[in-house]
Amino acid sequence: MNLEFDRIMPSLPYIMEGIPTTLKVVAVAAVIGFVLGILLSILKISRIKPLNWIADFYTSIFRGTPLVLQLMLIYFGSPQILGIQIEAFQAAFLAFGLNSAAYISEIIRGGILAVDKGQREAALALGVPYSGMMLNIILPQAIKNILPSLVNELISLTKESAVVTIIGLGDIMRRSYIVGGETYKFFEPILFAGLIYYVMVMILTILGKVIERRMRRSD
Ligand code: ARG
Repeated sequence: MNLEFDRIMPSLPYIMEGIPTTLKVVAVAAVIGFVLGILLSILKISRIKPLNWIADFYTSIFRGTPLVLQLMLIYFGSPQILGIQIEAFQAAFLAFGLNSAAYISEIIRGGILAVDKGQREAALALGVPYSGMMLNIILPQAIKNILPSLVNELISLTKESAVVTIIGLGDIMRRSYIVGGETYKFFEPILFAGLIYYVMVMILTILGKVIERRMRRSD
């Protein structure tokens, strides 16, 4: 194997300039996904059947089709759906946020159901109202159960964000591919992009472990 990193050396800063783009997509999508995911999970555990159906239908759509397809539908379909061409960033925030919400709602639903039902019964017996029980008793315990899965989701988002290449956003992936086209050397720049993604995922992994340990301390 012969690697010629010296040929692409001058282009490495150009590739690294894609990091903020990647981080921006991941951060905004994670917030949208988390908030919407909580709402959906509440609908899913509700005793009102139609609310369950709505949330389950939502998940079936966003989990049942490829993310790259959803991104394309939103970006290329916006003139026909909304009458305006939305920006690539907005399309990415939406597609990744809506997609992630489907996964996060399942993670949170599982976490809530995993909390011992004695907790719920005790709260009801003490006359704690539903919202107070959820917010102060069930969710804090659920968070502990779901944290590893949430970190996993954040890692998925980080790597999947490479898909924004398809709608022209200058993220790490796209920039490395452009450098490949310009230097006629694809292997090295894409290998470099892989290194950046790997480091980002390692940082998330370590952060997740630290937070997990902190939370366990309160047990
Ligand atoms: N490649 C899968 C897809 O196209 C991943 C979806 C995103 N995953 C996630 N946990 N948000 O559907």
